Amino acid sequence: MSALEKAPETVRAQVLALRQAIEHHNHLYYVLDAPQASDAEYDRLMLQLQALEAQYPDLVVPESPTQRVGAAPLAAFESVRHARPMRSLGNAFSEEDVLAFDKRVSSVLRDAGLLRPDEPVEYVAEFKFDGLAIGVRYEHGVLAQAATRGDGRVGENVTANIRTLRSVPLKLRGDYPAVLEVRGEVLINRADFEHLNEVQRTHGDKLFVNPRNAAAGSLRQLDPRVTAQRPLRFFGYGWGEIIGARSRAAPSEQPDLFKPPVPAGDSDNVGAPCATHAQMLDWFESMGVAVNHNRRIVKGAAGLLEFYADVGRDRAQLPFGIDGVVYKVNSLAAQEVLGYVARAPRFALAHKFPAQEETTILVGIDVQVGRTGAITPVARLKPVFVGGVTVTNATLHNEDEIRRKDVRVGDTVIVRRAGDVIPEVVGPVVELRPEGATLFVMPTSCPVCGSAIRRLEDEAVSRCTGGLFCAAQRKQSLIHAAGRKALDIEGLGEKLVDQLVDSGRIKSLADLFLLRVEDLILYDRMGRKSAENLVQALDKARHPGLGRLLFALGIRHVGETTARDLARHFGSLGAVMEADEEALLSVNDVGPVVAHSIRQFFDEAHNRDVIHALEAAGLKPELESGPEGQALAGKTLVLTGTMPTLTRDEATRMILSAGGKVSGSVSKKTAYVVAGEEAGSKLTKARDLGVPVLDEEGLLALLGRQG
Ligand code: IVH
Repeated sequence: MSALEKAPETVRAQVLALRQAIEHHNHLYYVLDAPQASDAEYDRLMLQLQALEAQYPDLVVPESPTQRVGAAPLAAFESVRHARPMRSLGNAFSEEDVLAFDKRVSSVLRDAGLLRPDEPVEYVAEFKFDGLAIGVRYEHGVLAQAATRGDGRVGENVTANIRTLRSVPLKLRGDYPAVLEVRGEVLINRADFEHLNEVQRTHGDKLFVNPRNAAAGSLRQLDPRVTAQRPLRFFGYGWGEIIGARSRAAPSEQPDLFKPPVPAGDSDNVGAPCATHAQMLDWFESMGVAVNHNRRIVKGAAGLLEFYADVGRDRAQLPFGIDGVVYKVNSLAAQEVLGYVARAPRFALAHKFPAQEETTILVGIDVQVGRTGAITPVARLKPVFVGGVTVTNATLHNEDEIRRKDVRVGDTVIVRRAGDVIPEVVGPVVELRPEGATLFVMPTSCPVCGSAIRRLEDEAVSRCTGGLFCAAQRKQSLIHAAGRKALDIEGLGEKLVDQLVDSGRIKSLADLFLLRVEDLILYDRMGRKSAENLVQALDKARHPGLGRLLFALGIRHVGETTARDLARHFGSLGAVMEADEEALLSVNDVGPVVAHSIRQFFDEAHNRDVIHALEAAGLKPELESGPEGQALAGKTLVLTGTMPTLTRDEATRMILSAGGKVSGSVSKKTAYVVAGEEAGSKLTKARDLGVPVLDEEGLLALLGRQG
């Protein structure tokens, strides 16, 4: 078949139909976020189109969806002069800033006769996307050029890369003008960023510090094939040059005081066919441009601040990062009157959230010893205001993490604190690394007790081997035991624990229960009243639920839930202490590692001593009751065979939460044997011993549940 063969009309029509179908699915998927076709279906359309275009090259046009990744790698990006400058926004960091903005806007608009004396200004409030600004120019509806913001007048030509974004249409639909430059933000979803970094890591490539950085790095690739692999997305929020648009707003839809803008010089709104910013965004959307729907038309400063608060509350749930919200006067005529000061518009304002990332200097790296001896490197930072608080320390997790991030003492580092999470060091700004920045070396002995620090082969953490000999571990164990989910001892704070341990008054958990008011008032900031309150709290803590006590002991791998399951299964502290690994394995969710750890804990003489001392100090645990009450309290059941609907696990769980126990062997003490299909010797033994036998229905009835 000749490459010059001219395509027959039928093929031409078929190609057009395929392109339309593909664009339709792109639009549904990337712009409307509501995909209809499966990946396979989409791929099939694409393959058909590719085959036809290969057969009839004269049909290939730049805006064909097969041509997204067309261009060869560049040597460098060309410069592009923007038809209209790409400006930035003034920033507000406080409520006062926003009130002042609204006051300024109102006063200008009133003076211009565009606002009645008591009328609030109408604004559009939208997200401030945390990506990078791009202008995409369409000529006669076809994507002609895309450029970065650069210095606002001249940017970089990134057309070949922007063409690979499927959320950017190669061809506009509907009622497009002769020239339209859509401006907006290119960004990457947080989950996609994480995934991208995973890929980078497995390839041994450089990691990106945050989604913004990843979006920028992906867009500034000289090879568009690389950009095509990156899940970049685009949201339009503004415009540059517009030529030849037909007016869209019927006079009745125009705002009350709308006056057609006076085309003054190079105003951004010259050529805009709508009366308001909101209408412009609707128009963009009708042409197939992706716009974000989380915008709100509001009135006055109160409306702005409400939007800010609402978005601030929900922003952690968004798939992508935003660093604030943007307020824009809705009426374009009003925008015109307000105009620009310096590089920023007077009609718009960015209201920033407290930055979640800042840079500062890494002054040193200390290590902290945790409850289980885990050594955590902690960054000592030059104080920096981030995420709404001043941060001086941040976790560095572990040794490998420091290596991987390549942070060195002396580095300028990026510190992140999002929401309530612990501040962390994201990475260094390598370009700013001073000479002589030093690498971190894990100490070989514990800075608190001097014991050796060891790192097990398959573990990421290093540990102090001092155990409860180490004051740091002792303190952390006490703080853990006093916690809300453990013994819940109110008034035993970190500061007091420090003093009690440092003074030698308390060596183990049991010593805590021997404290008297007279002992306590000797300590700093301990009045008689707080001492009495603490002693009272200790009294209350003498009768914890057995699950809470087991959790409070701080056995490795025994979390709150496992502790509760152990309590229900064994019923008493003595029974847990005596249980062998096999017996432990029959507890819900207890595997070999956990069973071994529990056994090891109770085999340790020191731990048994502490427990006996606790008992001597009057500590007496109580069995907690499960949500189903105590229908089976104190009763032991044995399960055998296959039940019609319940799995063995489900049945066990139900019995435990009704206060019962499940055992593997039948004895005279067995309350019931629950037998299913193909029950074996246990059923025979039950019959021999005269133990009552139930089926699934019988068990459910016993538990007060219907089958
Ligand atoms: S409008 C003349 N709207 O913020 C106004 N900008 O500080 C031009 N940005 O460079 C910008 N979300 O990269 C506008 N909804 C939004 C925005 C937004 C993010 C960025 C944009 C711009 C910077 C201005």
